[in-house]
Parts: sequence; structure tokens; C-alpha cells
Amino acid sequence: MVPLKRRKVPSSASSDSSPDVACKFPQVVLFLLERKMGSSRRTFLTDLCRKKGFRVNETFSESVTHVISEKNKGDDVRRWLRSQGHDLTIAHLVDIGWLTDSLRAGHPVDILEGHKLHTTDYTQSTHKEQLTSSGGEVTTRSIPAYACQRRTTLSNRNTIFTDALLLLAENAELSGDDGRGLAFRRGAAVLKALPEAVTDMRRLRGCPCLGEHSLRVIQDILETGVSREVESTKQSERYQAMKVLTGIFGVGLKTADQWFRDGIQNIHQLRHSGRTLNRAQQAGLAHYDDLMQPITKAEADVIANIVEEAVQAELPGSQVTLVGGFRRGNPSGHDVDFLITHPQEGREEGVIAKVVSRLEAQDFLLYQKTTRNSYMKSNDGPARPASSMDHFERCLCIFRLTTGEQHEPKACTQAPGEDSEGRASKRAVRVDLVVSPFSQVAFALLGWTGSKLFERELRRWATREKNMSLSSHALYDNKQGRYLKAATEEEIFAHLSLDYIPPSDRNT
Ligand code: CTP
Ligand code: MN
Ligand code: MN
Repeated sequence: MVPLKRRKVPSSASSDSSPDVACKFPQVVLFLLERKMGSSRRTFLTDLCRKKGFRVNETFSESVTHVISEKNKGDDVRRWLRSQGHDLTIAHLVDIGWLTDSLRAGHPVDILEGHKLHTTDYTQSTHKEQLTSSGGEVTTRSIPAYACQRRTTLSNRNTIFTDALLLLAENAELSGDDGRGLAFRRGAAVLKALPEAVTDMRRLRGCPCLGEHSLRVIQDILETGVSREVESTKQSERYQAMKVLTGIFGVGLKTADQWFRDGIQNIHQLRHSGRTLNRAQQAGLAHYDDLMQPITKAEADVIANIVEEAVQAELPGSQVTLVGGFRRGNPSGHDVDFLITHPQEGREEGVIAKVVSRLEAQDFLLYQKTTRNSYMKSNDGPARPASSMDHFERCLCIFRLTTGEQHEPKACTQAPGEDSEGRASKRAVRVDLVVSPFSQVAFALLGWTGSKLFERELRRWATREKNMSLSSHALYDNKQGRYLKAATEEEIFAHLSLDYIPPSDRNT
């Protein structure tokens, strides 16, 4: 810690300093801003600091070296200091995270980027970490605890760590332990949101969502370049087999687990096992290699044209929106997701069946399964808030995509899947079509844009912090006992008291 220049170190203990414990760091004088912190918490923190040998002044003065605030925006603190007639250059303005790190370290720590006050209010009141009077958890507040409070772009400086944590998450989920999987995913999400690569464990002090286990993995990688746990998981027979088997379209955890216990570990063994497969699994197995290939944005655009044409032909005036990963700006994906609606509520009913018939007649579909809309406010509204399943009319399908040529099926003389010389240049691509009534479309758009973790965090936030129930259909306020309407995603974020996060920043 570098003390600011031209500091007059008080030569004797003022009435502000602790009467009982000797001040261990005379160069550092703290001032805790009561604004938003509240007086009782300020008193508690002041006592704690003094017990640990920090000097804390009750009033702001020239001798203060660090102004500590909580839940405040940088601009507001500066304005407050100015209103008190103070020169802004005389002290460091830091977030409570600096103090908690320092208390934990037992000395004033260097001021890191994450300790500095942000202009935007990052700390909106919902950091789960607490300074407890028992002297227990002492953590920073500079990274919001919920992923839906953070902006997460596609640029990730910490892939070496996030890949490791996500592999452990996947392995936990493949073992049926969703809770542990989620914990690893939340940890990885925090690392994704960091603006710089982690090179030192100290950077992670006080970061939310990083439990002991995740920290151990990160430390291993920092020290040795790899995590032994990750390496041994990768080698594990069960992990490898379950990853392959659940990777087949139509195959869930239970089925894969049963097959594995019956000695089936790969595609080849499955093909020769004589198992009875359902229609989806048959399609999944038949197109396995194609479906494993990531879909490019260019391929998604080709599909988008085909879908748009079919929908407009069957229901003119419809709105078709690319959702899922591609709406978040991903350059590739495992499927292509579309949300369909019509401004005249009710017109959208049954559109999927017509569109599917049309696409089938054009020989675009290798597989499809349509589910009717089963949403009923009375059943699925406030009474069953936490379900992540929605009830829209939808179609999960596998498209036959022809690459390297135009897609004007009506005018085409050759069959889709062949080039002008009749050579097949086709491949299978997973496509999801979802239909929403117009009045629910903002919720459907938000719900189907993802990422999956972002969605989970939004719902968790709504439930825990707002006493509301969010689904892809509606937002219900439990306190007011009514649904909150929204025509845009922005309005939903506003109802939830969250800063708006655009799709490109939901890549958590
Ligand atoms: N979704 C959903 N209900 C389902 C399936 C998906 O609400 N039964 C939502 C997910 O929550 C997600 C979005 O649809 O927000 C897209 O899901 P998915 O296609 O699985 O993931 P992507 O984010 O698009 O990633 P990828 O590129 O791998 O497809
Ligand atoms: Mn998708
Ligand atoms: Mn999808």
C-alpha cells in the first residue's frame, strides 16, 4: 500500500482512534461513509477495524487516506465529498471490498482495480457475502453475486480455469448432482466476468460464488498448469461414455446411465447393441456425426431464410426472431433457435403444424416433434414459479441443410440436399421453433435468449430478491398478487430492478 503524498501523520492518537488496541498502521487512516451503509453497520465495522489495529476516523478530515463506502456509486461519493467542501485528490475512494480484503489479510492491502469505486452501481444491495460480528466470512463486494447483475461478453480471459470448472460441472451433472454442477457453473461465470486473466489467488479473494473446491482447482492450475481432478475426470470411463451417450439427440441422463451400466460406452457399441430406440434417438444416432458439428452463423442464416419463408407463407405478418446463442452473438452453436409470434393475439395458434407440413413437403425435415401449447395461467403462474420448462407450442426438429447453394425451395428443380449436378451436399442441423402469444413475447424472448445460466440466475434473483416469479410466459409479483406486464425485455429488467443487460452481454 502506497500512502498518498503530503499526508500529515497524526503524531498522537486522536479521539477518533481506538482507545484499547494500538494502531498498527499509522500511515493509514480510514473513514467509513455512512451513506447507504447505515449507522449500525458502520459502527460494527469501525469496531472491527479498530480491533484489528486500523485507525478509523469518525469524521472526514485532511488526515483520512481511505474513504470506504458500500453500495455507493463513485460519482455519488465524489459528489458527497465535494458537498462537504473536500478536495477529491486527498484520499483513495475504495469500495468495502478493499476493507474486507484488508481485514482478512490483517493489514491494508494494495488497491486493486476491483477495489476502486465504479461509476455504475455495481453493488445494488444484493451481495450475499456478509461481514459477520462473529468475525467469520470477510469478503469483497466488487463483483455482484448474481450473474444477471453482470455483463458477460464472449471474451473470456480465463478459459484455462473456466474450461476446467465447466468440465467438473458437466461431470457432476452427468452423475445426477445438479447442485454441485450449478456451483461450478456459477464459479466459472464469475471468472468469465473478470476483465483480466487471473494470475494470483489473491485476486480471487472475496469473489462471490467461488467455493473451496473451485478455488482448489484454480490454485492447482496456477501452480502446475493443470488440475489433477480435471485430468483424472477426463480419463474416467464413465465420464467419457456418459458424455458421448447423452450427446446423442433424444438421449437423457437416465437412458445413458442404464446403457453405460449395461456395458455400452460408445456409438459403435450402441449401434450394435440391438437396443430399441425411440424415434428421436433413432434420428439422433443416424445423424450423430452431423449434429456433433458446430453450426456456423452462415448456416444459421440459411436456416433463418427457410423458416422465415415458410412462416410468412403460412401466417403473413408473423414475426420470426433468431434467439438462443446466435442472438447473443455466438459465432457457432449446437442448434438454431427461433421464436415466432403474431401481433394479433390468437393468430399464432396452430401455426407450427402448418409450417411443419410445409417444410416436410419441401423435404427440409429429417425429424420433427411438435408439442402443443399447454400454458394455463391458473396452473403455471404463481403456483408453480420455479419450473424452468415452459409450455409454448414448439417443434424440435432436425433440418436437412444444403450447403453452398441458394435456398428457394419453390423454384428449385433439384431436391434439397443435392447440388445442381445432383451431388448430395447436405447435412443435418438441429432447429428449435417456439411460438409465443404476442402478449407473452417479451418474456419468451428473454427466456429463449439464454444463456441457460443467465436464465437461472434471473429466476433466482426474481424469487429471492424480489419475491416475484419469472418464467418464459410471465412475471408475477407475489407481494402485489398480480402479473406485471411487459412489452419489451427492458421493461422486464426494470420490473426486476436490474440494469438492462443486452443479449451480447448475457454470455455467462
Ligand atoms: N430453453 C428453454 N426450454 C427448453 C430448452 C431451451 O427455455 N426446453 C431455452 C434455454 O433456457 C436457453 C434457450 O432456450 O435460454 C436456448 O437454449 P439452447 O439452444 O439449448 O442453448 P443456446 O444458448 O442456444 O446454446 P447453443 O448454441 O449450444 O444452442
Ligand atoms: Mn441454441
Ligand atoms: Mn435450442
